Amino acid sequence: MVAGMVAGRLALVTGAGSGIGRATCQILSREGAIVIAADRNYEAAVETIKTHTALASGSNEADHMAVELDVANPKSVQNILQTAIKQYKAPPTIIVNSAGITRDNWLLKLSEEDYDSVLNINLKGTFLVMQTFSRAMTEAGLPGSIINISSIIGKYGNMGQTNYSASKAGVIAMTQSAAKELGKYNIRVNVVLPGFIDTPMVKTVPEKVQQAILKQVPLGRLGRPSELAEVIAFLSSDKSSFMTGASVDVTGGF
Ligand SMILES: NC(=O)c1ccc[n+]([C@@H]2O[C@H](COP(=O)([O-])OP(=O)(O)OC[C@H]3O[C@@H](n4cnc5c(N)ncnc54)[C@H](O)[C@@H]3O)[C@@H](O)[C@H]2O)c1
Repeated sequence: MVAGMVAGRLALVTGAGSGIGRATCQILSREGAIVIAADRNYEAAVETIKTHTALASGSNEADHMAVELDVANPKSVQNILQTAIKQYKAPPTIIVNSAGITRDNWLLKLSEEDYDSVLNINLKGTFLVMQTFSRAMTEAGLPGSIINISSIIGKYGNMGQTNYSASKAGVIAMTQSAAKELGKYNIRVNVVLPGFIDTPMVKTVPEKVQQAILKQVPLGRLGRPSELAEVIAFLSSDKSSFMTGASVDVTGGF
């Protein structure tokens, strides 16, 4: 018998090859879920399954699966749904949208291309995955939990991130609307707003800026990916059964 907060559930995690997505695969599998690790970078997703999913708590590596997914491509998203149904005979009922990118630049210099790619992956990608998988859950008559990853920047803005902040504000609003629509199917939709977390994404922020940011974090440090993943696991599980449409800040007080 598999133990854990989400024992026996099937979870799809996008952006699973790195950072918060990878940590989420690790914690969800520790809590008994079967994990589909999806990333544009397939090798990275395979690495997540091989070295980061827990074989503890009765979970068997062979149950988990790595797949190549581009969240901004509707065909690719549809393919993953088909693959999941073929493999597990049911759609995943935990969906974590962690795929995301930054293309930072000053408003006065930002290219249309960098604007479009950030909006396409962060916002449209979240939309496509939510729509495709919530549809599959309603068709199968299954309850579920969708966790989107926004950013604290989506609430307050940040210099050099007009494209990114807009995409992340969009994810918050989209979550609230989807929660209102999907409640009657017992599909919950919540959004997590990370502050500054120690992942490859943050490494692109100049050292000087990082130091300035840390001064504004009451806990005085960057967050660990696992500290996000624990909250995501809670939102995935029945422990949060009366939460939907909620925005949860995980920022060290930033
Ligand atoms: N790290 C932070 O400080 C921070 C803060 C706030 C919000 N976030 C958000 O958290 C999420 C995860 O960030 P992270 O720090 O783990 O970043 P990361 O760069 O470590 O990981 C992101 C992963 O997403 C994948 N990816 C990118 N585009 C994709 C696509 N089109 N389809 C599928 N996969 C794709 C990448 O290959 C990578 O493995 C992102 O949405 C990010 O915006 C991060």
